[in-house]
Amino acid sequence: MANSIETELYTAKASAPSNIAIVKYWGKKGIQEPVNPSVSFSLSKALSHTSITYTRGLDGLTIDFLFEGKTKASFLPKLNTFTDRIADYLPFLKTGHLKIESSNTFPHSSGIASSASSMAALAKALIEIQMQLRPGEPNLNKEQLISNLARLGSGSACRSVYSGWALWGTNDNYKESSNNHAISINKQVHANFMNLQDSILVIRKGAKAVSSTVGHQLMDNHPYREGRIKQANKNTNDLLKALNEGDFDAFASICEEEALSLHGLMMSSSPAYTLLAPESLRAIKRIKKFRDHHHIPMTFTIDAGPNIHIIYPATHKKVIVPFINEHLVPLCENGEVIFDQIMTE
Ligand code: DP6
Repeated sequence: MANSIETELYTAKASAPSNIAIVKYWGKKGIQEPVNPSVSFSLSKALSHTSITYTRGLDGLTIDFLFEGKTKASFLPKLNTFTDRIADYLPFLKTGHLKIESSNTFPHSSGIASSASSMAALAKALIEIQMQLRPGEPNLNKEQLISNLARLGSGSACRSVYSGWALWGTNDNYKESSNNHAISINKQVHANFMNLQDSILVIRKGAKAVSSTVGHQLMDNHPYREGRIKQANKNTNDLLKALNEGDFDAFASICEEEALSLHGLMMSSSPAYTLLAPESLRAIKRIKKFRDHHHIPMTFTIDAGPNIHIIYPATHKKVIVPFINEHLVPLCENGEVIFDQIMTE
């Protein structure tokens, strides 16, 4: 009996995009719940592809993880925590063997968050296995369930389940919004914001000095915690309105306030730290000067790292791309810029 169980194999493949947050998730409560809502769009070129093979077994769960063809044991603690957390939703994860093979379409250490795309792709693939094991399940909203599982792997991953724009965290104007999963808000977004470009200035490659997980923890006793929660809720409402009305100026002002506030929170944490590099600030100055001089819709955001995301409508590519190549490429490590855009399908 045990033999036949052990040779039962199930396979699934899935892909998911990375995303860039405009209103930032920063600080957690409970198990991977955000202290404030966040809003992001998914990126079309920055994808994770994941294949999994599940073999039934009797005692406990064992995992093998391969990243771009090579065993990567350093990721196992994160995967063990993740599978423990979601085993109540996907009971097959209590026993057996799981082989996970993952790869990214974007360069290593480019500053694009790979945990969002990889955890979203993994959650999708795991649900496929569950459906093979128990056809007809899940009978709940499948995307919301995948988003909920992805959140338990990495918070921002819950937004990567959707193409286009996603909202994670409760908001009074969106009844289906939740701290447990993200929702798609594309139907409420003006066409002006469905062709956005994201040109990522890779100011510094390599691992960050302080991980986002530690950064979130430092919000627990942060002196500006309550103020930050208030600000993020207001910015979420204002951003949703700007997205709905197609108002780029309002969008840009929220985008920059959020980016700089995130880094301000890091600089005022205890211990305080900064992830920005001198070139990050130089790039911001050049972007503002060029924008003000030419009166063009262009803004920037920054994740938990030194790299600058320049956000602008596709209609202004012809003016902005040459500016980036001439004035911003010299600020990037090895002159690297990743020209990406919103994923809409
Ligand atoms: C600055 O989702 O990477 O990118 O939940 O600990 O995995 P964990 O954190 P993570 O945090 C992302 C923070 C951010 C802002 C955002 O994407 O909203």
